[in-house]
Amino acid sequence: MKRFYLVLIIIAIAAPTATIATLLGFSQAQASPAYASEPHPDAPYKKPERAFSSPSANLTQEEQMAFTLGRSLFKKIWVSSPSSTTASDGLGPLYNARSCLRCHIRNGRGHPIETNNLKNPAGSIIMRLSIPAQTPQQQAMLDAGKIGVIPEPIYGTQLQDLSVQGLQAEGRINVRYQEIAVRFPDDTATVSLRKPEYRVEQLQYGPLHAETQLSLRVAPPMIGLGLLAAIKETDIIANEDPDDHNHDGISGRTNHVWDIEQQQSVIGRFGWKAGNPTLKQQNNAALHADMGISSPMFPKGAGECTTQQIRCQAMPNGNSAHLDNAEASAQIVDWIEFYTRNLAVPAQRNTTTKTVINGEKLFTQIGCQQCHTPRYVTTGDAPAAQANQTIWPYTDLLLHDMGEGLADHRPEFVATGREWRTPPLWGIGLTQAVSQHTQFLHDGRARNLLEAILWHGGEAEASKRRFMQLTPSNRHHLITFVESL
Ligand code: HEC
Ligand code: HEC
Repeated sequence: MKRFYLVLIIIAIAAPTATIATLLGFSQAQASPAYASEPHPDAPYKKPERAFSSPSANLTQEEQMAFTLGRSLFKKIWVSSPSSTTASDGLGPLYNARSCLRCHIRNGRGHPIETNNLKNPAGSIIMRLSIPAQTPQQQAMLDAGKIGVIPEPIYGTQLQDLSVQGLQAEGRINVRYQEIAVRFPDDTATVSLRKPEYRVEQLQYGPLHAETQLSLRVAPPMIGLGLLAAIKETDIIANEDPDDHNHDGISGRTNHVWDIEQQQSVIGRFGWKAGNPTLKQQNNAALHADMGISSPMFPKGAGECTTQQIRCQAMPNGNSAHLDNAEASAQIVDWIEFYTRNLAVPAQRNTTTKTVINGEKLFTQIGCQQCHTPRYVTTGDAPAAQANQTIWPYTDLLLHDMGEGLADHRPEFVATGREWRTPPLWGIGLTQAVSQHTQFLHDGRARNLLEAILWHGGEAEASKRRFMQLTPSNRHHLITFVESL
């Protein structure tokens, strides 16, 4: 324990000067597109891959310390129990990665998996598992809204493709891509979209339930999450139109998910289907299922081992009295939460070019903003760094039916197998710089922004059609605008 704190303190002392330097030119609230400026010459753009790594500009010195501590925990590589460093042990027994950063690489998005790359663990993605309700009791539990899915009976709600020594991992994920040609109405171009088909292979604990629902998800970027948490609930609800009363073809509704701390159903904000209510719960669920680390919220030392996985249940764990009977104490999860709440959003770029200005106009004209809601003023009730700010996230945080093409056929709380939460678009133009790729959508199937738009269906079908009817240069302008975000 002592050693652990010592390391953290050293990091904390070493870091603030660098952190303060990187603050310049960065603001926590994204500047209005009309007023945003080029980044300050001292901004971390000098190292473009660090564009998602700055703290909120308006943190106090004490808060900057907490941010630095949080960052070291986000980066921390956990080890299996028993270990001499009790503050870092408890990994697994089943897990997907040993640190948060392993998936949220440079706080950016993860990358999709490659076909037949079965020797390596999948990396920065998660394969969620569940089955439809099998009994009236299970259906009643789903209806009551206390659980979002019925877990696969042996493997649980997530496939772990890694395990501690002495235990088998659950299996490996494979994908096959099929290319589908899309032609524009003016015949100027054909684009090929790759449609993934996922399989789970090398299963070590027997076959999956025959009705297993699979949902593959890439780790989303980590910027601006505290600001999304600070959007007023009334503003989100105001955009809901579940029965499409305004007949614009777009319904949009909130997910309703179980808040473990409050012990009640609240609106969901985080995850690709808005399946989590708060950053705290999302982070703790990640510790639990992605890394097998227990916390006061998920106290089971055996992580995501199910009761069918007896050997897994019996492996040693790192729960200890001095860590609130968990592997990650309440203090540790608080620091991680602070970090995830305070990663700054880079300002918009190239806002004064004709191309971007025209692209922004088109974005509104063809209805992209119907779901990618540009602007909010955050609540005054949020922590000081997030309160009363004008922000430009380009999301309504609502669920939309995106059509059969994007469907995962795996419901999560209220969200159906065809619904996804509108992802924020801020920072999306920096994906190449931060993540060295441009693979978008929930499973990274789109290889660039054009493909991401062409995958839009369902409620977004009309908007996509209008996009396809634009002239090639207007299509280019719209995409250049999205790249400026
Ligand atoms: C194995 C890869 C992986 C690891 C490790 C991982 N995550 Fe994630 N993370 C994801 C994926 C995938 C999602 C999307 C989940 C969903 O759609 O439900 C996600 C979502 C999130 C979100 C919500 C972001 C949003 O835009 O809604 C937060 C916050 C988060 N993770 C924090 C963490 C923290 C903190 C850790 C470490 C304790 C962590 N993650 C570890 C893959 C990972
Ligand atoms: C009906 C609501 C809706 C409309 C209209 C809409 N989108 Fe989306 N958009 C979504 C949802 C939901 C997703 C996530 C889908 C997924 O991951 O499967 C998404 C994803 C995206 C992404 C990828 C984001 C990421 O992080 O991977 C981009 C880029 C995007 N939309 C741009 C646009 C543009 C440009 C338009 C206008 C042509 C548009 N959208 C219209 C709802 C909408």
